[in-house]
Amino acid sequence: MNYKLKVAEALHEQIGDSLTIEEILTLLEKPKQASHGDIAFPAFSLAKLFRKAPQQIAAEIGENVSSPYVEKIEVVGPYLNFFLDKKLISSQVLKEMLEAGTEYGNTNLGDHRNVPIDMSSPNIAKPISLGHLRSTVIGNALANIVEKMGYQPVKINHLGDWGTQFGKLIVAYQLWGSEEAVRANPIQELLKLYVRFHEESEKNPELDEQGREWFKKLEDGDEKATELWKWFRSESLKEFNQIYDRLNITFDSYNGEAFYNDKMQEVIDLLEEKNILTVDRGATIVDLEKYNLNPALIKKSDGATLYITRDLAAAIYRKRTYDFAMSLYAVGNEQANHFKQLKAVLKEMGYDWSDDMHHIPFGLITQGGKKLSTRKGKIVLLNEVLDDAVATALKQIEAKNPDLPNKEKVADQVGVGAVIFHDLKNERVNNFDFTIEEIVQFEGETGPYVQYTRARAMSILRKAEINEVPVADNYSLTDDYSWEVIKLIQEYDQTLRRAFEKFEPSVIAKHALHLAQAFNKYYANSRVLVEDEEKPARLALVKAVADLLKEDLRILGVEAPDQM
Ligand code: ARG
Repeated sequence: MNYKLKVAEALHEQIGDSLTIEEILTLLEKPKQASHGDIAFPAFSLAKLFRKAPQQIAAEIGENVSSPYVEKIEVVGPYLNFFLDKKLISSQVLKEMLEAGTEYGNTNLGDHRNVPIDMSSPNIAKPISLGHLRSTVIGNALANIVEKMGYQPVKINHLGDWGTQFGKLIVAYQLWGSEEAVRANPIQELLKLYVRFHEESEKNPELDEQGREWFKKLEDGDEKATELWKWFRSESLKEFNQIYDRLNITFDSYNGEAFYNDKMQEVIDLLEEKNILTVDRGATIVDLEKYNLNPALIKKSDGATLYITRDLAAAIYRKRTYDFAMSLYAVGNEQANHFKQLKAVLKEMGYDWSDDMHHIPFGLITQGGKKLSTRKGKIVLLNEVLDDAVATALKQIEAKNPDLPNKEKVADQVGVGAVIFHDLKNERVNNFDFTIEEIVQFEGETGPYVQYTRARAMSILRKAEINEVPVADNYSLTDDYSWEVIKLIQEYDQTLRRAFEKFEPSVIAKHALHLAQAFNKYYANSRVLVEDEEKPARLALVKAVADLLKEDLRILGVEAPDQM
């Protein structure tokens, strides 16, 4: 049910075809004060059309317009203020929500077409960074959003598992490595080896030469080299998977850069066929001047292919394999240029579907306004951040609700949820800072606040001792507090649509916060459990809020404990 649309339709009947329903919709405003009604229509834009003063037009339309969803209309100067029929709308909205359950707001826009989402994509043998965390949680939320819109998301972890660094790592491991140590602490040990390689190779350039040789062996499929590479990869992945498990995020594919090794020659051949390669000082490039971009470096003078060459192969592979409706890449801002080049090269190749590829950039997580750098050794290991958040959540729970069953589990859901929620509540392109203390608060604009609000709604339902709120036609509520809640429930399809069109999970996070805030106000101002005629309707509202908050959180990738 979309009451804005109902009002637009009613207006359209009066105004006639000089304005379409869509045009009327865009003109509708939300009055600044609640006492001015729920929706306002300014008549200014009709003045020219009808050659009358807007005041007069407003008065005339106000006389005649009518809709079952509108209780009364007030004409104030050039404005028509609509007061909606709360009784009718609340009954309809609650019925729709209770009927649909978790499918509330779903549409079939995507017609089951595939949407690959390139997300997380850390580099083997290196710590997964906070940037990769952002990519993981943003990608996961986008997957859930496109799924609500009727698409089939395909979550792809495009691992950085190829490159000359693996030659160096193989050399370092053979010189100084220990199998046991790597098994115990894969990433930390591999990183140590890599760092040591760089230190030692400064004194001993011979090492670099060996690194190059071993990478060559790896490329040529040498058994020893391949075995080590595979092992580094699987050990690293084990460690990454621990984090993904904690975040409760899964992937449909781990096809990383190496997956495209045998698909590179075809890309080069295609580029050659289309005659867009040029050789510049030994390197093979695609000129992108007409796109106002630097040339894309496809092959180095020694024949080695590059990051972008692999992404070309991956893009073509994804189009062939998934016949995608859209192909998304949740990757930091700093790679914006890379994705522009990628799309431009594909465009040059004549692939118009490159227009359906979208880079979804995001900002940095900073500390004290500065970029967290891994180089300087300030590696913020994700696990540590999550551990801190969980410990802080546990402290809060101990203080608030010491008898809570499953305290550890709930603390985990709250701590991890807080980190995810904080990441997603900000518009993704912005940089943000955070401290664990701030984000694990049960009050304020936090994940725990939303979870806590939902748990409170669940506890009201428990107190009411009802197992199920039946779907019914007559859950009508008329007070101003419930009305704010009803409106947020009603708007859900538009909210999802906006989140989808902007690829912006923060739209969902804000919806969750607003719904939680509106519900808490309602709860503070009404006596939900008092026995009277309206009680079933109030409980229906509580149930609807509990379910919708849970759905918002689910989309974001945050769990919703029933008690906390
Ligand atoms: N591994 C890369 C990095 O850590 C990110 C890969 C992003 N995905 C892609 N298809 N280029 O910077």
